[in-house]
Amino acid sequence: MKETVSVMISEDRVLERIHEMAQQITRDYAGKSLKLICILKGSIFFTTELAKRIDLPITLDFMSVSSYGSGTESSGRIKIVKDLDENIKDEHILVIEDIIDSGRTLSFLLELLRNRQPASLALCTLLDKPDRRVVDVDVDYTGFVIPDEFVVGFGLDYDQRYRALPYIGIMHLEEE
Ligand code: IMP
Ligand code: MG
Repeated sequence: MKETVSVMISEDRVLERIHEMAQQITRDYAGKSLKLICILKGSIFFTTELAKRIDLPITLDFMSVSSYGSGTESSGRIKIVKDLDENIKDEHILVIEDIIDSGRTLSFLLELLRNRQPASLALCTLLDKPDRRVVDVDVDYTGFVIPDEFVVGFGLDYDQRYRALPYIGIMHLEEE
């Protein structure tokens, strides 16, 4: 299989949109401090660009989850690979995700975090593929709604590669 990547959303456009999202978050949480929870590894590029542009006292924590099951489909069963370092009780929490696809990962994760009794819990995603949704999730901040294409770049991978592309690209697989 030959892989090619074409640009879906340019670097400038991604950064411009992240700036707008950061301004909205700054307004919505005015007077509060906010903890960003970065879901590794895909959200790392988005989280850093967003955090730099939010004008509030910010703290960061990281979590890594993996879905049992294979390939590009996530199953309903999620395993915590790395949990948060700190307690989130009574804190304002914003979960940062790269993409919401079936919604399974996020619905599991939000339920788990809600049980830890944060003061508030909200969800921010760079990309949303609503056509693929299997489980309902309430998204508070969405960067871009995209069609059902497999995308890479800005943190998103294909088999761990392409994460460092500075733009969002569509992955094409062709027979050689
Ligand atoms: P969900 O549980 O199906 O919503 O899975 C979300 C996760 O699947 C994301 O955090 C990504 O790791 C991965 N994923 C879903 N769609 C894509 C894609 O188009 N490109 C790269 N990774 C994707
Ligand atoms: Mg992934």
